[in-house]
Amino acid sequence: MKNLVVANWKMNLDVAQSVNTALDIIKHTKNYFKKNDLVICPSFLAIPEVAGALANTSVKIGAQNCSWEEEGALTGEVSPRVLKKYCRYVILGHSERRMYLHETSDIIARKIDLVTNLGIKPIVCIGETMEEHDRGDTSRIMYEVSKAFSLVEKDKAADVIIAYEPIWAISTAVSHTDEKVTCDYAGGIARKIRDEISKIYDQAIAEKTHIIYGGSVNSKNIEHLHCQPDIQGYLIGDAGLDSDEMKKIFESIS
Ligand code: PGA
Repeated sequence: MKNLVVANWKMNLDVAQSVNTALDIIKHTKNYFKKNDLVICPSFLAIPEVAGALANTSVKIGAQNCSWEEEGALTGEVSPRVLKKYCRYVILGHSERRMYLHETSDIIARKIDLVTNLGIKPIVCIGETMEEHDRGDTSRIMYEVSKAFSLVEKDKAADVIIAYEPIWAISTAVSHTDEKVTCDYAGGIARKIRDEISKIYDQAIAEKTHIIYGGSVNSKNIEHLHCQPDIQGYLIGDAGLDSDEMKKIFESIS
């Protein structure tokens, strides 16, 4: 299975900067595309222009969120049906949205169901708090996995990508300096997630499911984290804005 590297640009870069950064990252990483797929997730307003600029490349575009409905009276929401023109992927249930916007697992499950039926692959973010981590409690992770697949028919299940992102490891370097997150640790959680998926569907679906890791991934810690076959890619925030960082990350995992 190829690694899936997803750059989550969050609420950074204007439209022109997004296009330039995307082209710069591709220039630095394209030599590694045989073994790795790259997905770039700009903010909504930049999506059409970035998609246009990347039209002749193998790089895919993802959105950072979408509505749970295709259309209707939902002020400020963005329809996945409209996104589909540009996006093959959408990040759903990021911990920043769960925390600041109180997105619930039920709403996220509805979004996952809708986008998989539209042919967009959801990248579903799931992770535990620091307290849960310290007491070895993975119950929230397993619960979120079962919720993520709760409305998904078996024939669409392998389109769902799980991004294991410990909440406490996002946007901080702390986690990696004390080596709380290592390949063994993240790989162990990924295996548990896969076991859970095989209980929900079967072993074949579980083996086909892409599980990626996120949380302050950068060129310095990537070597501790990279462990195929359990972790098959990365969701990258800060370092995903920097073409040198991305080049080094691609180099390390190829
Ligand atoms: P980070 O962000 O790499 O800056 O921690 C990852 C994410 O939030 O998806």
